[in-house]
Amino acid sequence: MFNSKIIIGGDKFDSKDSKRVVIKSPTDGSEIGTTELATKEQVDEAFKSAKQAKDGWMNTPLYEKYQIFKKISDELNERKQEIAKLITEEISKPLKDSISEVERSADFILSVAELKRSQNGKSNSGDSMKGYLKNQKTSIVEMIPVGVVLCISPFNYPINLSVSKIAPALIGGNTVVFKPSSQGSLSGYILAEIFNKYLPSGVINFITGAGSEIGDYLIEHEDLDMINFTGSTEVGQHIKKISKVPYLLELGGKDFAIVSNNANIEKSVKQIVQGAFSYSGQRCTAVKSVLVIDSIYEEFMTMLKEETMKLTVGNPIDNTNISCLINMKAADFAEELANEAIAKGAKPSWEPKREDNLVYPLILEVSDITTRILFEEQFAPILPVYKVSSIDEAIHLANRSKYGLQADVFTNDINEAFNMARKLEVGTVQINGKSDRGPDNFPFLGIKASGSGTQGIEESIKAMQREKVIVINL
Ligand code: G3H
Repeated sequence: MFNSKIIIGGDKFDSKDSKRVVIKSPTDGSEIGTTELATKEQVDEAFKSAKQAKDGWMNTPLYEKYQIFKKISDELNERKQEIAKLITEEISKPLKDSISEVERSADFILSVAELKRSQNGKSNSGDSMKGYLKNQKTSIVEMIPVGVVLCISPFNYPINLSVSKIAPALIGGNTVVFKPSSQGSLSGYILAEIFNKYLPSGVINFITGAGSEIGDYLIEHEDLDMINFTGSTEVGQHIKKISKVPYLLELGGKDFAIVSNNANIEKSVKQIVQGAFSYSGQRCTAVKSVLVIDSIYEEFMTMLKEETMKLTVGNPIDNTNISCLINMKAADFAEELANEAIAKGAKPSWEPKREDNLVYPLILEVSDITTRILFEEQFAPILPVYKVSSIDEAIHLANRSKYGLQADVFTNDINEAFNMARKLEVGTVQINGKSDRGPDNFPFLGIKASGSGTQGIEESIKAMQREKVIVINL
């Protein structure tokens, strides 16, 4: 059994209430470890520790920060097999994807540090505005940390979506309180341990516990300066409502893929299957609904079913494409959506199949526009497809979504592609490719119910800093 701890000021603690939860493998239910349930008093201590470490860390030279980041990145690379195995056990992700998650994170840490080394503030001369003489006023604009950042990561990328918050926060001079999702917290603990091994005490503090118990307490804490959260739209909306500090939110998505009669059908099908079914559809950027022009619909569907049938189902340690969903609740919800669609006349590609929380891949040919799975986020390997008679109809339907993360347009007509891209109400439009957050140096954002603020490398560093303006009057 792997027993994780709370980390405050570089020291490890059990819950003050002696309460912990057992983390079970979603694949076979076996007990893989325990996570401590921090008390509110321990949350206070974590914030106090982050606050105390703030000045020292802010004033640590960038050169030293870079050396620390390099060591963290190297250790992640050296231990990628061990960490990836834990990710796979904990969240049922195919092993090769877990390995690439760790590699991607190690790379991200280094890229953040390298970018920051070349970033400087700026100065403005007042004479560009009417009424000011040359050299009368000059402003020096420095970028300074916001302070203590609360980083909350979800279950589906326990390392990468933690690193993508923590690393830019730290390189910008902030200190961190890191709270992972309970399922994923064992992997999160390893990460927190590695960061703590090289960072001064208190720069990153690690808190675990049930969101229902300590979530609001963390979000409303008086020593908190900013929230960086990835998770459900429901929790994100709650944060928006109660937060008194700035936030960066990455929430749910319902990414539509639109396939034009000008598309390369074979390429579209391959991209859509990868986009919809990788990690069993449990990605905010998964392709979650497909809209296909009627003239190519039959050909597209035949190829889509053939490609989907190639997916392997089973244990993620064997690198099967499809594995168990994170829990029974997720599988129940997926089944509920599939049943509702079928009751409304949707045609399943084959007999739907489910064994406990293992949901087999399924395509639903939906004909009733009120079918829930066309617009609700399934987070499961079930893909609805709807036939449209024009690109305008497809855009109109995609824009009806409450989400606005990404959309994919498949067409070989560049004018049509740009026209569609400009009309779709989302953060990012992919032309002839599946939706994807990476590469991590691209700006990543969701509009509407999909988030708030822009992430990336440069963008995340900037989002967790603020300008400090010093004016010289001559
Ligand atoms: O689940 C949300 C993630 O940000 C998706 O990231 O596109 O790299 O799978 P990804």
